[in-house]
Amino acid sequence: MRVPVPLINYFKTDFEPLLTRFLLERDMIPDKNALHNKRFLNRSVAPHVETLSQLFNRIEKESQTDGIDTETYWSGAGSPKNRRLAYFLSFMPGNIFRVASVWAELQRLGFQWSRHFKPNVGGTSAEFRAIEWGAGTAAGACGIIVAEKFTPLGLPRSGSFALIEQSKSALQLGTDWFQQFSDGLEMGMQSRPFHRRVDLSEPWLPKTAPKFHLFVMSYFLNESEISPATLARKCLEACEQHLEDEGLVVLVEPALKLQSRKLLEFRRELIEILESGKDKSGMKVLLPCLGHQACGALAKPEDWCHEEVQWWRPEYLRELDAIVKLDRKTLPFSYLVLQKTHKTLTEILPALQGPSEERYRLVSPSRALGKKDLEFYICGQDGKRRARYRLTAQDQELDDIDRGDILQNTVLHGEPQLTQIDKTNPVRDSESDAE
Ligand SMILES: C[S@@+](CC[C@H](N)C(=O)[O-])C[C@H]1O[C@@H](n2cnc3c(N)ncnc32)[C@H](O)[C@@H]1O
Repeated sequence: MRVPVPLINYFKTDFEPLLTRFLLERDMIPDKNALHNKRFLNRSVAPHVETLSQLFNRIEKESQTDGIDTETYWSGAGSPKNRRLAYFLSFMPGNIFRVASVWAELQRLGFQWSRHFKPNVGGTSAEFRAIEWGAGTAAGACGIIVAEKFTPLGLPRSGSFALIEQSKSALQLGTDWFQQFSDGLEMGMQSRPFHRRVDLSEPWLPKTAPKFHLFVMSYFLNESEISPATLARKCLEACEQHLEDEGLVVLVEPALKLQSRKLLEFRRELIEILESGKDKSGMKVLLPCLGHQACGALAKPEDWCHEEVQWWRPEYLRELDAIVKLDRKTLPFSYLVLQKTHKTLTEILPALQGPSEERYRLVSPSRALGKKDLEFYICGQDGKRRARYRLTAQDQELDDIDRGDILQNTVLHGEPQLTQIDKTNPVRDSESDAE
């Protein structure tokens, strides 16, 4: 997936000064150079980053439905203050960027807010309302507004994000940070903190709660030990009752095999309900699969599906990554976007053209075979295929296609094990200029 240059540049240059100011104002760092002070990073931050990293990765080795004790990473051993700082410095920026990339993908495919919502949403009579579930330090909400700044879908200029979070200290930090971030971007968004643990096997919100235009979940669902089937049922109930018509749900999850497969199973369960004739939510799965077809990756027990984006890490994060030996030059993740709508996919995403059976997404990097051939995996209405494409003099632009790109009006022949693409037309990407 490619991300527009202005969004990448924001993280390269503008993000760190804003973050440093925020941390200094709250006495979370000792001085303005602390983020580049090796001794400080080594002593106060790095050990917690290593612990958190192990905690997040350890889940992969456990059974699919296992959750995670989230209190552990907000408090855990050692100083809770430094633990929070470590999450904030090390994991929060990447999660903002991941969520922003998904919003940018919607924009690339032509999604426009005004096609779905009347212009007065966000005015005084009908305020734009979003909710981040498991907000932690509000990376999901921040991801939406930074993407909206640089790759706008046309959201109203003001509105509010309800931040729901079980850790009081993380929520406090997230609420303050969201405000500083929104003000820094001149986005005019407010947030409202809700300190609670959501029981995901019960109704997610009280009946009296209002409806929202947007649900965001970033690295949230995988922490639950509840089965994908129950999560899907309860998520659709929440959408039926608390998502406005035409409202969006943006979900970002880890790229690790077990968590990614859990998201694919969640999608499968959603689609089973949506296609059963019993669904009352009116939801549609938009991305990444461009339809309700069976998942190509779930067809094999060892397979999974993820995206990857390139970015420029803020300078301090490059230094911190070097200390803890994490290489986060690229950011992998899994994601889903749903909408409550009766519109067709091509009405919602007008960059998509041609018949759906001729539309595929690259689900692997593309590798060159000699000078003329490219090989990659594609996923479409009929599942996943290994495909080759022969470059001709006319279509040299295709030689930089990569994971996440969409091919449409595709003519191909051969078996799923090895398919030859005879003709195709990629959805154009914006230029990228990443690390
Ligand atoms: C990995 S963090 C992600 C935080 C943030 N969304 C991000 O992307 O950086 C997951 C958050 O969800 C919170 N959480 C997990 N389960 C929850 C639940 N059932 N109710 C409320 N918060 C929950 C955790 O406390 C934690 O802050």
